[in-house]
Amino acid sequence: MRAVWITKAGGPEVLAVRETPDPQPGHGEVRIAVRACGLNFAEVMARQGLYPDAPKPPSVVGYEVAGVVDAVDAEVTGLEVGQRVLALVRFGGHADTVCVPAERVLPMPDDLDFIEGAAIPVNYLTAYHMLFRVANLRPEARVLVHMAAGGVGTAVLQLCRTVPGVVTFGTASAAKHAVLREEGCTHPIDYRTEDYVARVRELTGGEGLDLVLDSLGGRDWKRGISLLRPVGQLIAYGFANLSTGERRSYRRLLGQLTGVPLLTPYGMMDRNHTVSGVNLGHLWERTDLLREELTALLDLWREGAIKPRIDQVFPFEEAAAAHRRIGERRNVGKVVLVP
Ligand SMILES: NC(=O)c1ccc[n+]([C@@H]2O[C@H](COP(=O)([O-])OP(=O)(O)OC[C@H]3O[C@@H](n4cnc5c(N)ncnc54)[C@H](OP(=O)(O)O)[C@@H]3O)[C@@H](O)[C@H]2O)c1
Repeated sequence: MRAVWITKAGGPEVLAVRETPDPQPGHGEVRIAVRACGLNFAEVMARQGLYPDAPKPPSVVGYEVAGVVDAVDAEVTGLEVGQRVLALVRFGGHADTVCVPAERVLPMPDDLDFIEGAAIPVNYLTAYHMLFRVANLRPEARVLVHMAAGGVGTAVLQLCRTVPGVVTFGTASAAKHAVLREEGCTHPIDYRTEDYVARVRELTGGEGLDLVLDSLGGRDWKRGISLLRPVGQLIAYGFANLSTGERRSYRRLLGQLTGVPLLTPYGMMDRNHTVSGVNLGHLWERTDLLREELTALLDLWREGAIKPRIDQVFPFEEAAAAHRRIGERRNVGKVVLVP
């Protein structure tokens, strides 16, 4: 099989396509001939050596694939060779062949293509899980999402549209604001030229927000909490602030880590605030939740309520360019790799 390897921590040039023997499905697994796989911010951080969950290089990362089942272990029921599927993979997804436990594999709707299929699992599960399981999104809620023009960001905006009257604030570079509006963002904010905290205060008449979805981390968690009104909630789900440029910087790491707010249950009680954490990569023991949420998402796709915005599709040989596209903040929506 062919796969995109991270040969060592570093810039995009450390990526290489290598050939190894095909894996065989183990107990309860199916093997998938991959047609497309999603590239996520986490995998860009893994390449930089900034993602502690990732296997040590040399390694193959990748959390999600879409393709066709080409071998099935005898214990598996309900999935068969030739079926079009999408799957969550615990690393190893940036390959043309993967073996996955059957419970993490779902049949794809007939008219969903592989590129869009590969763009659904991680981004939409993260968005759905935050909005509807952890946050209980209500009509008229005010929601701020960072990295709003990225994969998770656009998924959040689309899902917010399914609840009446939700007002969304999204931070992104100015050039991406037209797309944010298309995706339903009420108030795009250019965080590069204006202070988003001041802008949100102004737009809400000083009242603040019901929900902050923060994937930036460090000092931004503190700033997000400062924007919550009573009964407001911040969900921490990423630490993109650790990643700037193509390589790891210890100075930056330290600066961001010391900016993380120190919270006490007493303080949160007094302010009626909730701070929650979401990490899909640590939910493997709750595949039941992930399956239920992914099934709901495929229903929303069938209804036309969600549609992944594909930024660009890169062949494996151009994986370095795909990583650069995200690292240099040029993507609008999802970057997808194809074998
Ligand atoms: N906890 C979980 O389970 C989970 C799951 C998936 C993703 N995440 C997190 O969610 C966030 C978004 O992930 P994604 O895959 O949707 O991202 P993405 O599509 O790769 O979004 C990248 C965009 O984010 C913006 N950005 C802001 N800060 C950045 C930085 N330091 N470096 C590069 N780009 C930056 C840039 O747009 P602008 O030009 O607009 O700045 C860039 O184009 C990440 O922090 C990721 O780790 C968490």
